[in-house]
Amino acid sequence: MDAIVALAKRRGFIFPSSEIYGGLNGFFDYGPLGAELKKNIRDCWWNDLVRRRDDIVGVETSIIMHPKVWEASGHVAGFTDPLVDCKVTKQRFRADQLFFAEVVVDGKTVGHVSAVESDDTARDLQEMAEYFKRKKAIQGTLAPVVAREFTTAKPEEVPLIPSPVTGNPGDLTEARAFNMMFQTNVGAMTDASSVAYLRPETAQGMFVDFKSVVDTGRVKLPFGIAQIGRSFRNEITPRNFIFRSREFEQMEMEYFIHEEADWAKCHQEWIEWCRQWLLSIGLPESHLSLYAHPKEKLAFYSKGTVDIMFKYPFGVQELWGIAARGDYDLKQHATCSGKPQEIFDEATKRKFVPHVIEPAVGVDRILLAALCAGYAEDEAPDEKGKLEKRIVLRLSPRIAPVKVAVLPLLKNKELLTARARELYRKLQRRYAVFYDEAGAIGRRYRRQDEIGTPWCVTIDFETIEKDGSFTLRDRDTMAQRRIHEPELFALLEEKVY
Ligand code: GAP
Repeated sequence: MDAIVALAKRRGFIFPSSEIYGGLNGFFDYGPLGAELKKNIRDCWWNDLVRRRDDIVGVETSIIMHPKVWEASGHVAGFTDPLVDCKVTKQRFRADQLFFAEVVVDGKTVGHVSAVESDDTARDLQEMAEYFKRKKAIQGTLAPVVAREFTTAKPEEVPLIPSPVTGNPGDLTEARAFNMMFQTNVGAMTDASSVAYLRPETAQGMFVDFKSVVDTGRVKLPFGIAQIGRSFRNEITPRNFIFRSREFEQMEMEYFIHEEADWAKCHQEWIEWCRQWLLSIGLPESHLSLYAHPKEKLAFYSKGTVDIMFKYPFGVQELWGIAARGDYDLKQHATCSGKPQEIFDEATKRKFVPHVIEPAVGVDRILLAALCAGYAEDEAPDEKGKLEKRIVLRLSPRIAPVKVAVLPLLKNKELLTARARELYRKLQRRYAVFYDEAGAIGRRYRRQDEIGTPWCVTIDFETIEKDGSFTLRDRDTMAQRRIHEPELFALLEEKVY
């Protein structure tokens, strides 16, 4: 992760937000290359899902909606994480990410240890228990620790559990529900009547606009409404770089189906569509897996949720959730607004509330997955043929921020630079391209490798003096071959879509 974060900063993909003021935890800025990469991910999703399908339409709904939307959706009452405070340091923890264990020596509990969730929390707790026993000079045999989530602590156990920051028992509060929605006020008054929320998900926009789309969009079941936009969650512990942040971007789609349709089949089809789409933007199959939420952990209305998981350097984590939500959301909005959210069935001549399958993914999480899977270090020959370390970002041409770098072999030969600039301008009409004439050619290749540019073309004397062909260098194999301009455009047409 350190190498990826360093590369992201060094090459202008991602910076901490408001860095000159020390940054703001959980907020990030995308630099020139990051903004391109992010836009490419969004465009691929929108093109594949909205433009290239006849059954899905797109919307853009507002970030601040009527507060009743969030009452109806259940977010005001239930969009909470369990929160624990350290009373001394004022640090806050998510109770489901805080673990503790009894220290048991010769069958007797002699104390407690605690740790924040890590790659191997049980190991951390075991080491802490051993240290505890040594420090207190307790004789006897230490039993293997049994890690428990703080959420399972009984009230009488809480004062015995040490704070992971101070190490002292009694410093932690009991867990309480913390609502993650950011509040604001609309208008000049700042009283309870003006309270509104920044949306914690884009999904509700699609539910609330359902009737408007049906009445104006000439859509027929089954059909989907998709949206890309910012969401905001006051996460207690934003972490793992952009994986869990407080302001992020979601790409969500609500796929409405007949109440009697085979939802399980449809759910399965969407899981597979999402998986295939991730492969199409270059995420390796070896890093993807599926996780079906256990029935007992599902919300009462949910028929099933499957997450596509990704193997990040910090562990296998949720990338894309695909939920079968039944008719819960539309029915809630019908009840709370008093406006029916039904559709007319021509076959049976009656109205009903459609059911929904919802694939919901974060753009930032996809971007991070692409950086993590694409980052590699190998070796390449320098100017003198000596092998040196090369950092390469193996991004799919579909999402790479720069598709082609155009390089004249020499900077001071007008014939070469003029032809290179001409090709650069022509490519620029359709693609994000880069012109670079500074430095040795090997160094210029290396710069492009590091930002994930799939191809470099080099304009040399053969281009000018012979048949107009130029060198095409492949980022991943470093192989070079001569091609002509039409072949370059054909290659881009095939790979960048
Ligand atoms: N409408 C359903 C919904 O929002 P979710 O699982 O809470 O479901 C969907 O969020 C996706 O949004 C997640 O799978 C993840 O990719 C992304 N996401 C959620 N919280 C995030 C956060 N704090 N930072 C970055 N991405 C997040």
